[in-house]
Amino acid sequence: MIPHSKPTIDKNDAELLSQVMLSGQIAQGEKVADFERQMARFIGVKGCVATSSGTAGLHLSLIALGIGQGDQVLFPTYVCAALLNAVNYVRATPVLVDINPRSFNLDVCDLKAKLTPKSKAVILPHMFGLPADIDEIMALGIPVIEDCAQAVGATFQKKPVGSFGTLAVFSFYATKVMTTGEGGMVASHSQALLEKLKDLREYDEKDNYRLRFNYKMSDLQAALGLAQLARLADFVSQRRKTADLYSASLKGFAVDLPQESEDRRHIFFRYVIRAKRPLAAILRSFEQRGVCCRRPVHKSLHRFLGLSGFPWTEEVSKSALSLPIYPSLKDEETKKVIEAAQGILRYCL
Ligand SMILES: Cc1ncc(COP(=O)(O)O)c(C=O)c1O
Repeated sequence: MIPHSKPTIDKNDAELLSQVMLSGQIAQGEKVADFERQMARFIGVKGCVATSSGTAGLHLSLIALGIGQGDQVLFPTYVCAALLNAVNYVRATPVLVDINPRSFNLDVCDLKAKLTPKSKAVILPHMFGLPADIDEIMALGIPVIEDCAQAVGATFQKKPVGSFGTLAVFSFYATKVMTTGEGGMVASHSQALLEKLKDLREYDEKDNYRLRFNYKMSDLQAALGLAQLARLADFVSQRRKTADLYSASLKGFAVDLPQESEDRRHIFFRYVIRAKRPLAAILRSFEQRGVCCRRPVHKSLHRFLGLSGFPWTEEVSKSALSLPIYPSLKDEETKKVIEAAQGILRYCL
């Protein structure tokens, strides 16, 4: 069975980790500081603060912005529950927004309609690796936390995602574009916000008491992160090559293919198509042919909360299908995915 996703780790990574392990310095230290500096340089921001996960990064970002009870935080409903959790951790009020069915990103019209004087921040994921409408959303004048968990290396108007928002959060979970096993990073241009994040991330050796966390990354993870960052450009070009092959092979079939406009560069964390026939049967057919495909979002957030009024998300949830795409996908596996997709989707007309 061809897995839906897989980390890209090689022997060099294993050697690096064994060196760090044997050095005796494995907790947060110089490797983490180096990873933060290199990520900041790559994104083009003043600084970065490494965290234990993307969720931890979101949580600390909301606290650093002073968001709490009575404040509203807006974000799309078509995303994983990490965003809803982070907003609930600080006891703010989640306000869910519908998406654009072509880009899978937050719908700016619905966002504007839902803004109130209590709206204190927008969390803006760049879904599946395609940059969202960050310029229009920044122009609204409300703090934006860019969620780059799925989009490290993507660009909007030739500038890296993560360089636009008040804060930007990255995830290095095992199957993300680059990985540290588990891990995250928060980027910002604001020295004051970076200082707050650093203070909140760890509890030890402080002179005053306030609620703080243990959200640190280890030097072991950072060593892997540095090696992955050095290979990121390669990872992205391999993902784009596979995406080009998929798109060329599925043109003319009864599916909507992923979009990429001139002003933004997709990194294809996910290759998501929209089928025109019930998904459950399609997923089963792929499985029978040895290819693991997935719904790219397990369950949209308004469904968890029993809310209605998200017609585009409903539409997309019924039709969106994610094909395996990662740098370690071999040529013969790519071919097998294409043959399976062509065979299955031919009958969707
Ligand atoms: C868009 C988005 N935001 C945040 C997260 C949370 O990241 P983590 O799993 O590192 O906590 C994820 C993880 O899957 C994600 O896809």
